[in-house]
Amino acid sequence: MPVTVLVGIQWGDEGKGKIIDVLTENAEAVVRFQGGNNAGHTVEIGNDKYVLHLVPSGILRPGSLCIIGNGLVVSPVALAAEMRELAERGIDVSQIQLSTRAQLIMPYHMLMDTLRETKLSGNKKIGTTRRGIGPAYSDKAARTGIRAHEMLDLALFEERFRHQAEHYNRLFTAAGGETLDLDEAWKELKDAAEYLKAFITDTTYSVNEVVKAGKNVLFEGAQGMLLDIDHGTYPFVTSSSTISGGACTGSGVSPRHIDCVYGVMKAYTTRVGEGPFPTELHGESGENIRIAGNEYGATTGRPRRCGWFDAVSSSYSCMVNGVDKLAVTKLDVLDNLEELKICTAYEINGVKTDRVPASAAELENLTPVYETMPGWMADSTKARSFGELPENARKYLLRIAELVDAEIGIVSVGPKREQTFYK
Ligand code: GDP
Ligand code: IMO
Ligand code: MG
Repeated sequence: MPVTVLVGIQWGDEGKGKIIDVLTENAEAVVRFQGGNNAGHTVEIGNDKYVLHLVPSGILRPGSLCIIGNGLVVSPVALAAEMRELAERGIDVSQIQLSTRAQLIMPYHMLMDTLRETKLSGNKKIGTTRRGIGPAYSDKAARTGIRAHEMLDLALFEERFRHQAEHYNRLFTAAGGETLDLDEAWKELKDAAEYLKAFITDTTYSVNEVVKAGKNVLFEGAQGMLLDIDHGTYPFVTSSSTISGGACTGSGVSPRHIDCVYGVMKAYTTRVGEGPFPTELHGESGENIRIAGNEYGATTGRPRRCGWFDAVSSSYSCMVNGVDKLAVTKLDVLDNLEELKICTAYEINGVKTDRVPASAAELENLTPVYETMPGWMADSTKARSFGELPENARKYLLRIAELVDAEIGIVSVGPKREQTFYK
């Protein structure tokens, strides 16, 4: 399919980076359309491991155009550092384009993110990545944000930065928080802007050109549908549209051009940060999955919360995203479990439902209804086709696909490129 949008179905970290890398073999361009360096997308090739935060995961396939679209919030300092590090590792970064319309994350956004989190009490904390995502999107909506094209005129950029930063410093002082050293911050920003200058371009035209030429284009979602600002477990969400529809607003491509939507989901569920998680496993069972799946955040290193596959939230997610094909990852992590549970309904105040409630409090307090399937207790990591999987693993995959009402397209049985196959 020439134009494919790939999104996370759960709360992020589904293995999107790995699947994008596999799909990029045949793609001309990979486009990020939302989020920022809150994302951490891991790609393992041979003994090399790359964790990408802002650069599209297509960068590891030479020749693929890598577009950072208008829908992102971009820290110039973080992007320049990531690109320099990739270049030092011998990766060609000349194919990267940064949208003139992308919003910039400034150092004061990061301070504000931290301040807000520390001021929130106990169960109100969101557990953000503290990358300044929420404050930068707030400035975008308030129409006070600074955009990437403004880095092209350093004198004006400095003026804009200092003006905004002084305003934030007054807020920090009033709140008793840490203030920003403007000269220090400007030095870093100036250096980053000088480096990024050559990569800033009108990506709306670049994306439409490759789409119009009939080339294969991949849109790389960050986070996951349940972290979507509208459809996720609000307020425990990120601040962007993580759903497939976000690919259009975040890149400037019409919905008429989207041919296929890939939904990536783990064979179980994880969440990093705070917020409701109906199928969360506490204690030893959760810990066992965390260890088997090496479930630690790729951006913050925080341990991920782990739990059973939740067919209620995943089918809701597939519906909103319009998923054509599923990429199911981390099946191998379940290799040693005697039995597996799948949540097929929620019980809320004694009433059974297969719908996801809007209220975070209801999500927090519901009782999951489970069905149980036998495990396979066998090594799945060497399978290279659906037929080579243990029988119970195949049954499990078919059952979760049936429950979310989508077809399995790809199965992943390990972190490496080759541990992947099409069904
Ligand atoms: P993303 O944010 O969706 O790109 O996912 P992350 O990179 O944050 O987290 C996924 C983690 O699982 C990474 O460490 C991957 O290397 C790893 N991974 C991806 N697919 C598989 C798989 O099928 N099996 C195992 N065991 N690990 C996988
Ligand atoms: P990838 O692209 C998992 C979570 C944070 C927090 C909430 C809000 O790697 O799947 P933010 O910093 O965005 O304001 O934090 O969203 N979060 C992610 N969780 N994977 C991600 O990205 C995430 N990006 C943000 O932990 O709960
Ligand atoms: Mg991640």
